[in-house]
Amino acid sequence: MPLTITPTPRGLEGVVAAQTRLSHVDGIAGELIIGGYELKELAGRVSFEEAAHLLWRGALPGTDELRELRREITPLRALPEDTMRVVRAAAKAPPIDALRMACATLSLDLPDPDDIAPSADIEAAKMLTARFPTLVAAHARISEGKELIAPRADLSHAANFLYMVHGKEPNPIAARALDTYWVTVIDHGMNASTFAGRVIASTRSDMVSAVTGSIGALKGPLHGGAPGPVLDMLVDIGSADRAEAWVRNELKAGRRIMGFGHRVYKVRDPRADVLSKVADEMSAVHLEDRKLFDMARAAEQTILKVLDEVKPGRNLRTNVEFYTALVLQALGLKPRSFVAVFACGRVAGWCAHVIEQHTEDHLIRPQSEYIGQRGLGLER
Ligand code: COA
Repeated sequence: MPLTITPTPRGLEGVVAAQTRLSHVDGIAGELIIGGYELKELAGRVSFEEAAHLLWRGALPGTDELRELRREITPLRALPEDTMRVVRAAAKAPPIDALRMACATLSLDLPDPDDIAPSADIEAAKMLTARFPTLVAAHARISEGKELIAPRADLSHAANFLYMVHGKEPNPIAARALDTYWVTVIDHGMNASTFAGRVIASTRSDMVSAVTGSIGALKGPLHGGAPGPVLDMLVDIGSADRAEAWVRNELKAGRRIMGFGHRVYKVRDPRADVLSKVADEMSAVHLEDRKLFDMARAAEQTILKVLDEVKPGRNLRTNVEFYTALVLQALGLKPRSFVAVFACGRVAGWCAHVIEQHTEDHLIRPQSEYIGQRGLGLER
């Protein structure tokens, strides 16, 4: 029987590409479910390590399980020398590229990198999740010519990252803000980087290869690379009364407004709600952050109004990246590192998807619709 090929929508829009127990994005209700819980149940109420356990093991950990997970992950934070060589060689590269290059070396440190049994995958997930913050912090210090700071075992995942970047223990509000940010972005349905990772894993390739591919997909400005440009935009706008002219000008020039619009959400991204509260809390600490936050909130309303008017019916609403920019900026992180800091949270979700895909063990191999010519002959 001849195989019929149905043309798919551009960019696989609306196509269900996998079944998952990990997370669900309801773009009409504006809901994000992570491992059975709505994001608003989890954010600010469970730690990043607990959320990672939920995705990897299918349930939130009890007290003993959490203690055990922390005891296993903490010693894995330090980086092997081979990886450090790559971080140094990539000192001038953007942090997300340095992370991608360094991540690829981490398979050198696994007993059998090609072992894709669930137990081996979980070990690789712990190692990658433990080391991403150390990689990003080490690259930040090296690229600024500063001395490296070794990870500390007595600090939480988030507090330790801020300590390694800034060289001093963060205040508890900052550590909690980063922890909530990482929980908020830990997983998000079949987003492009997760899909890329699942495609790689579906070939029975290994965890480190899949996660390295996911980093490459996350980097682009249509996915994780938006918060850096969001901050540039806010700086460029300068004051709320200039937002309208600014956004009209951008749209007239055919440019997209970063931090707005989403493939799935047709209403406000629920992660934007969580992170606007976090940014609000953070901005209570420094006056400059408060000014930026107030300006951003006013500019957001103006941008939404103009988008509705200039792009009617497209339902372009605030997405996760708008308030991510404000949270990460208030944490004293550099815009160039924002997407790499995003990866430090999302890595736990990528690993969970790789585990799920390896368990399913079915090759993802779609077809393409050929729109080229046929029947050409060589005139020789
Ligand atoms: N600013 C202005 N116009 C936008 C827009 C934005 N942020 N996002 C989408 N649009 C417009 C497109 O120009 C297009 O207009 P048209 O119908 O006149 O051609 C229409 O909305 C549909 O765009 P399309 O590219 O088909 O939507 P998509 O589902 O592929 O886009 C994103 C999803 C996220 C890629 C898109 O909204 C975007 O580029 N946002 C900015 C980047 C960003 O914030 N990324 C982080 C995502 S979490």
